[in-house]
Amino acid sequence: MITVMGATGHTGKRIAWQLLKAGHPVRALGRSAERLAELKDAGAEVMAGEPNDAAYLTKAFHGADVVYTLLPYDPSVADYMAQQADVGEAIVKAIRNSGVRRVVALSSVGAELASGNGPIASMHEQEVRLRAVSSVDVLILRAGAFFENLLPALYMIEQHGLVADGVDADVPVPMIASQDIADAALAALLDRDWHGVQVRELLGQRDISYGEATRILGEHLGRPDLPYVQLPYGEMAGMLQEAGFSADLAGLYAELAQGINERRVKSLEGRRPGNTTATSFEAFVAEMVV
Ligand SMILES: NC(=O)c1ccc[n+]([C@@H]2O[C@H](COP(=O)([O-])OP(=O)(O)OC[C@H]3O[C@@H](n4cnc5c(N)ncnc54)[C@H](OP(=O)(O)O)[C@@H]3O)[C@@H](O)[C@H]2O)c1
Repeated sequence: MITVMGATGHTGKRIAWQLLKAGHPVRALGRSAERLAELKDAGAEVMAGEPNDAAYLTKAFHGADVVYTLLPYDPSVADYMAQQADVGEAIVKAIRNSGVRRVVALSSVGAELASGNGPIASMHEQEVRLRAVSSVDVLILRAGAFFENLLPALYMIEQHGLVADGVDADVPVPMIASQDIADAALAALLDRDWHGVQVRELLGQRDISYGEATRILGEHLGRPDLPYVQLPYGEMAGMLQEAGFSADLAGLYAELAQGINERRVKSLEGRRPGNTTATSFEAFVAEMVV
């Protein structure tokens, strides 16, 4: 049995479906039985509950050979770090209480830093919690920035004719398709060749700057001169708040942009075949942007 958190989300959904297709028993988790119904119909055991409920997670992890964990959040959350700690502590409590021995945990590039990395600090804290659990094998996948983060730019393009963010136009960023993360996690869930606590980065097909990503989007949309505008950090946070982010999380994203610009939030491993994945940003845009 393999337990998958976030089974209606970017990575967990693909992991759960791929496991089912390959004939593996899956326990799929999410907050809503309705949203999990398709997976149930396809043969998954589904368990609905809140990801900060340690008793629920303990039942969901119990009897699993391996579990896939992540820290979901709502962008409008008033205190992001407190919400993430709440979920992270429940996950670790459930790992301890359920007796599960293998965990694949989604984290982020930059999670080696305790601070100055915006929302990634919550994944640093979770990595620390996971390392403190003894006798459990933990594989931490530190993913680059999801390509999906750029989809809200489509609205900005439509409304304002530009893409804007706080990151410098030319700084190279490891960006990745969430499906590539799912595929790497899937392989790790089925593999038995990792032991103790291991960290692996997933850096996408190549580093892409915001300027290049804007050019690729613009070319796809028939707007080859689409401008990228680098915003001051305060303005970036304001823009995010207008889009529905809490002041707290908007401030953390502005801090992350600064961390990227100052080259503090970056890959530790450096790019190599083992952390490079297949899907290009061009292929993602061709599929997702119609
Ligand atoms: N975005 C990035 O660039 C990036 C980079 C590296 C790491 N990460 C990390 O990747 C993780 C997210 O992975 P993902 O994209 O696969 O997941 P996701 O799609 O964001 O979320 C997974 C599931 O969590 C549930 N969820 C949503 N809001 C929630 C809330 N407020 N409380 C509880 N559950 C909620 C939803 O399921 P239900 O509504 O069905 O319950 C959703 O399908 C996060 O920890 C993020 O920090 C992100």
